[in-house]
Amino acid sequence: MLSSQVLSATAFAAAAQAVSFSVGSTGGNATSPYQYGIMFEDINNSGDGGVYAELIQNRAFQGNDVYPSNTTAYWNPLGSAEISVQNLSAPLSAALPTSLQVTASGSGTTGFSNVGFWGFPVVAGWEYKGSFYVSGGLDGNLTVCLTSNDDVQYAEASVEVASSDEWTQYNYTFTPTVDAPNSNNTLNFTFAASDLTGSANFNLLSLFPPTYNNRDNGLRIDLMEAMGGLNPSFFRAPGGNNVEGLREPYWWNWTQTIGPLTDRPGFPGTWGYENTDGLGLVEYMNWAKDLNMDIVLGVHAGYFLDGTAVPESEIQIYVQAALDELEFLTGDASTTWGAYRESLGYGPWVVNFVEVGNEDSLGGGGPTYAAYRFPAFYNAISAKYPDITIITSYYDVDGVTPPFNASGDFHEYAIPRQMADQFTYFDNYTSAHPILIGEYAIIEYDTGNKTGPEWTPGAPRAFVPFWYGSVSEAIFLLGAERNSDKMIGAAYAPGFQNLNRWEWIPDLIEFDAYPGHTTLSTSYHVIKLLSGTRITENLPIEYDGVWGPAFFVAGRNAVTGSHIAKFAVYNATEEVPFDLSFDGVGAGATGNLTYITAPMNSTNPIGGNIVETHTSTVTAAHNGSFIFELPPYSVAILEIGAAAAGPGHNYGNPSHRRGWKGFKSWARRTATEAGVLVVTVGDCTCIMMSDERR
Ligand SMILES: *[C@@H]1O[C@H](CO)[C@@H](O)[C@H](O)[C@H]1NC(C)=O
Ligand SMILES: *[C@@H]1O[C@H](CO)[C@@H](O)[C@H](O)[C@H]1NC(C)=O
Ligand SMILES: *[C@@H]1O[C@H](CO)[C@@H](O)[C@H](O)[C@H]1NC(C)=O
Ligand SMILES: *[C@@H]1O[C@H](CO)[C@@H](O)[C@H](O)[C@H]1NC(C)=O
Ligand SMILES: *[C@@H]1O[C@H](CO)[C@@H](O)[C@H](O)[C@H]1NC(C)=O
Ligand SMILES: *[C@@H]1O[C@H](CO)[C@@H](O)[C@H](O)[C@H]1NC(C)=O
Ligand SMILES: *[C@@H]1O[C@H](CO)[C@@H](O)[C@H](O)[C@H]1NC(C)=O
Ligand SMILES: *[C@@H]1O[C@H](CO)[C@@H](O)[C@H](O)[C@H]1NC(C)=O
Ligand SMILES: *[C@@H]1O[C@H](CO)[C@@H](O)[C@H](O)[C@H]1NC(C)=O
Ligand SMILES: *[C@@H]1O[C@H](CO)[C@@H](O)[C@H](O)[C@H]1NC(C)=O
Ligand SMILES: *[C@@H]1O[C@H](CO)[C@@H](O)[C@H](O)[C@H]1NC(C)=O
Ligand SMILES: *[C@@H]1O[C@H](CO)[C@@H](O)[C@H](O)[C@H]1NC(C)=O
Repeated sequence: MLSSQVLSATAFAAAAQAVSFSVGSTGGNATSPYQYGIMFEDINNSGDGGVYAELIQNRAFQGNDVYPSNTTAYWNPLGSAEISVQNLSAPLSAALPTSLQVTASGSGTTGFSNVGFWGFPVVAGWEYKGSFYVSGGLDGNLTVCLTSNDDVQYAEASVEVASSDEWTQYNYTFTPTVDAPNSNNTLNFTFAASDLTGSANFNLLSLFPPTYNNRDNGLRIDLMEAMGGLNPSFFRAPGGNNVEGLREPYWWNWTQTIGPLTDRPGFPGTWGYENTDGLGLVEYMNWAKDLNMDIVLGVHAGYFLDGTAVPESEIQIYVQAALDELEFLTGDASTTWGAYRESLGYGPWVVNFVEVGNEDSLGGGGPTYAAYRFPAFYNAISAKYPDITIITSYYDVDGVTPPFNASGDFHEYAIPRQMADQFTYFDNYTSAHPILIGEYAIIEYDTGNKTGPEWTPGAPRAFVPFWYGSVSEAIFLLGAERNSDKMIGAAYAPGFQNLNRWEWIPDLIEFDAYPGHTTLSTSYHVIKLLSGTRITENLPIEYDGVWGPAFFVAGRNAVTGSHIAKFAVYNATEEVPFDLSFDGVGAGATGNLTYITAPMNSTNPIGGNIVETHTSTVTAAHNGSFIFELPPYSVAILEIGAAAAGPGHNYGNPSHRRGWKGFKSWARRTATEAGVLVVTVGDCTCIMMSDERR
């Protein structure tokens, strides 16, 4: 079944002719699964005050000459207390030299409070785990209380403190019995002023709610569940700019992010605040593991955001740091760093991807990257870890010829008109190395008088994703997916936006301290749909029409045997009818059609969702064709399960059987060799692979 029509938005206005195409059973572009992933950037409090579940802000008074330690932010005295930060001659640890000193006069109740990350969540039934270190002259009961600004006391714990010159840790727990209506709460530490002799010193004051998978020093459950809902396959961490650092000597030095929290000094984050590094390398790896994601490990490439490139004579210091990091993550107990990891009780982990730096072409970094920085990393890492796919930190797809003999990370920030034009963007790309779309997003609305294809720096930005922008992203994603043999995968960026402090907009998931405010954006829903049903084998499409307003790809999932088509309908004036068939799927076959849609300019309100999901069953007509309509600005999936494929179902074809068996034996082998590489996505088992494994 094949009919040829030339379609356009205007054609639709006149007569709604069906978009007709047929899907062949052999000869697709690829047998490689295309990945949907997450790009992590430590901005918008996505680490501290974000996915990292610590509730106390400025818990260890970390600072440096970029962000000096102080109590003015986040801590307040109560009663007669006076509070200050001190660098004692006997600090808690070398990494945490600064502590909070409290003095008080009189006999009343005194102490201090913390404001949290714009408040504290109070949820009935949550067991909160708190701890702090104290030294000095406090003898008596200290009360820790989660309290509202209008003095509703939701939960409290009494800790009997007998402090001395030695730093002593105290732990406590409490469980509120009612929810607070908002996050307008503080954590108050109080004691009788008469119990204080001289002064007391506090450090590393910590409070955690329940965490995902109940991990110590863990991650926020609702944000992890939100991410898990995307069925992600890969995770680029620890971010982009976060890897680079502001200036020498401040970079994401992984050795300072592992081990006990008392050994982590923190560093001046690149987005306007101090990083505690409580979310360190091990926590990133556990995060990836908990969501069954492959890590795309970002390593510092000898380049800082102030434009300083490490000279060639010193680049080996950073190359060695990356090699040590890989040994820490993957080495066995016979290696120095592997043994250290074992002593901490973690891993080993599998690392299939390393990205060298982040956007190294910006700020004048390109020449040094090409001349010696990237080659130094590439040569050293590939010599020791030949199975790792090494990715360059920028990529000029228009230039077609890759700048390096390696995979590249392509970033695309655009306006909808530009993104919607890019369905065929990767068609002409040819390289031995597949591309990672490490970051993409619509960041502005189309503007009336804009003629150029690129977004305008300084133009008004969208605060959160909006629906027609999200649909244009779907077009871009499907364009990459139909070229999946050339792609590693794609990740929206950035992932998170704390509504109280964000530096880059828009972001995929918005949130604040109050759990009811967590918002899955319109773009989130697009990824969730497209990622939730995986094509492992693209199939050729016979289609004589033009692309737009309907865009689609089709293929098969070799594990479930489903036939799948994915659609985006953009700027149509009315419902778009489809008429399509799959070779091997016969009359009476049933498919599940799911489409999502929303008013074109709408955004998701805080804690809400305007994206509608429609599901229906579509049955193939006598000639095997599926006939249905999709509304303007919609994204859809049609899936025909193997058992529902009808009489035309054609797994008797030996070439299919071979492909499927080969895939399964590959999956078994990989599962055995690598342990964590097979993930279950709904009822479909998806396999993550690096390009060497294809
Ligand atoms: C106080 O410390 C916070 C947290 O490190 C930092 O963001 C802020 O810049 C500091 N303020 C001053 C006045 O030093
Ligand atoms: C602290 O409180 C406990 C009961 O919670 C009490 O037994 C103890 O005597 C108190 N200690 C002081 C020093 O007041
Ligand atoms: C406090 O809790 C932490 C984490 O569970 C634990 O490692 C530590 O030993 C505890 N400290 C005390 C004094 O109980
Ligand atoms: C939070 O508390 C402050 C001070 O009491 C008050 O001004 C503000 O309205 C409260 N915010 C909410 C959301 O209740
Ligand atoms: C708790 O601390 C807050 C902020 O410093 C203060 O407004 C409130 O009165 C304190 N409540 C109690 C019960 O100490
Ligand atoms: C990274 O941190 C370690 C431990 O503090 C330190 O010894 C090393 O010099 C740092 N590396 C660089 C290149 O700054
Ligand atoms: C790809 O190449 C074809 C044939 O040269 C050309 O017509 C088409 O415009 C190219 N596509 C892109 C996106 O550059
Ligand atoms: C059109 O572009 C110009 C120049 O960038 C700008 O000043 C003007 O505000 C824009 N007009 C509209 C309607 O967006
Ligand atoms: C395969 O890729 C080419 C261009 O790279 C594209 O024209 C074609 O439609 C793709 N095939 C499928 C089945 O997506
Ligand atoms: C939709 O198409 C119309 C007619 O071609 C055009 O004027 C309008 O700008 C398009 N809108 C979008 C969002 O692309
Ligand atoms: C959506 O917003 C665009 C401007 O970005 C405007 O031209 C268009 O009319 C709006 N459409 C609707 C349905 O509100
Ligand atoms: C279609 O939906 C039905 C009912 O929800 C479900 O049982 C079936 O597995 C689905 N099939 C496919 C191919 O998604």
